[in-house]
Amino acid sequence: MTGRPRPAVAVLPGYVPGRSAAAAAAEHGVQDAIKMASNELPFGPLPSVAGAISGGIEHLSLYPDHRATALREALAEAVGADTDQVAIGAGSAGLLQQLHLSYVGPGDHVAMCWPSFEAYPLFAALVEAEQVRVPLVDETFDLPALAAAITPRTRIAFVTNPNNPTGTVVPTATIREFLAAVPSTCIVVLDEAYHEFVTDPGVTDSIPLLADHANLVITRTFSKAHGLAGMRIGYAIGHPEVIGMIDRTLVPFAVNELAQRAALASLAAADEMRERVGSVVAERERVTGRLREQGWSIPDPQGNFVWLPVGADAADLGRDLERRGVVTRAFADVGIRVTIATPTWNDRFIHALADARPPS
Ligand SMILES: Cc1ncc(COP(=O)(O)O)c(C=O)c1O
Repeated sequence: MTGRPRPAVAVLPGYVPGRSAAAAAAEHGVQDAIKMASNELPFGPLPSVAGAISGGIEHLSLYPDHRATALREALAEAVGADTDQVAIGAGSAGLLQQLHLSYVGPGDHVAMCWPSFEAYPLFAALVEAEQVRVPLVDETFDLPALAAAITPRTRIAFVTNPNNPTGTVVPTATIREFLAAVPSTCIVVLDEAYHEFVTDPGVTDSIPLLADHANLVITRTFSKAHGLAGMRIGYAIGHPEVIGMIDRTLVPFAVNELAQRAALASLAAADEMRERVGSVVAERERVTGRLREQGWSIPDPQGNFVWLPVGADAADLGRDLERRGVVTRAFADVGIRVTIATPTWNDRFIHALADARPPS
C-alpha cells in the first residue's frame, strides 16, 4: 500500500451521495430519468442571488474573507443572536466535521438516534470515536432513550429536527427536557438542515434554548430552503466559546467568495425564499395525501421529502422506481426517501410508485 493511511481511514467507506439521474438512465436505459434523491430544491437560484454570484466573479483572484464577517453579522441579526455566536462552514456537513475535530477524540462516544443523516457515523469514525445508536421510535427521535445513552464519555449527541431520512420532528418542549438531562461535557448538536420547511406547531424557534444551554449548537444550511446546495455553505449558532472552538478547525478560506455573496443575497431575499418554501410545503401535503389515498402509511413529513418505511422491500422498490425513471434514495432494509420536487416530477413519482407497487 502506498503511504500508510490511518487504520480508521483505511476502513472508512466514504460518503455515498444520491445517485445521479444520468447514472440511473444509463443503467436502466430510460430516457428522461429524474433525480429525487438528495433533498435539493427544484428551483434555480433566485434572480438576486444569481446576480450576486455573477457579480462576485471579478473578485475570484483574491482570497475570500476567512471569517465571512459580513455573513456572520447578517445571520446574527436574522436569527437574533450575537455575531460571536455564529460560525460559517463549507455546508453544515463541514461544520459537523469541524465539531468532531474540535470536540471528539479516539475512544470518545458520539450518540445519535438511528436511522439518521448518514454522514454522522463517518465523522465519528474519522476521529476514532465509538458510535452509540439509539433506535427511532415511530420513525422519530427518542430523546429520553438518547439521554439515557449519554455517558461521561459522550462528547456529541445529535438531535436531527426534522430527521433525515424519516422527516419526523420532536417538539421543542421535548428538546428542552432533553437538554436539561445532558451534562455540559457533551455538545448537543441540533441539526436543523430542514427547519424552514417545518409546519408542526409543536416546533418553535430553537434560538432561545441557547440562553440556558452553553453546550447547545444549532446547525443550519443554505443548501435546502435557500436552494444553494452547490455553493456549500452552512452555519452554526452556539455559545461564543464553542463557536471559537469550531472556528479553529475550519480549513483556511474553505467558504468561498461566491458562496458568501450568494448566502448574503439569499438572506436579503428571505421573503422570496419563504414563498418558495411555501410551494414546496404545499406540494409535500399534496403528495402525502395522494400516497395515503393509495394506502401508504407514512409518517408526517416535515422536511422537503417524504419517507416510505417499506423495510426489507427498500432496495427492490428503489430499483423498480429507477427502472421507471425516478431516482429516489433507498436505505437498505429500512425505507425509501423521496425529495419533493415540481408538481410534474412529483406526479411522475406518484405514478411510478403506483405502477411499481399497485395499491391492493
Ligand atoms: C440532516 C442533515 N444535516 C446536514 C446535511 C448537510 O447539508 P449541507 O452540508 O449541504 O449543509 C444534510 C444534507 O442532506 C442533512 O440531511
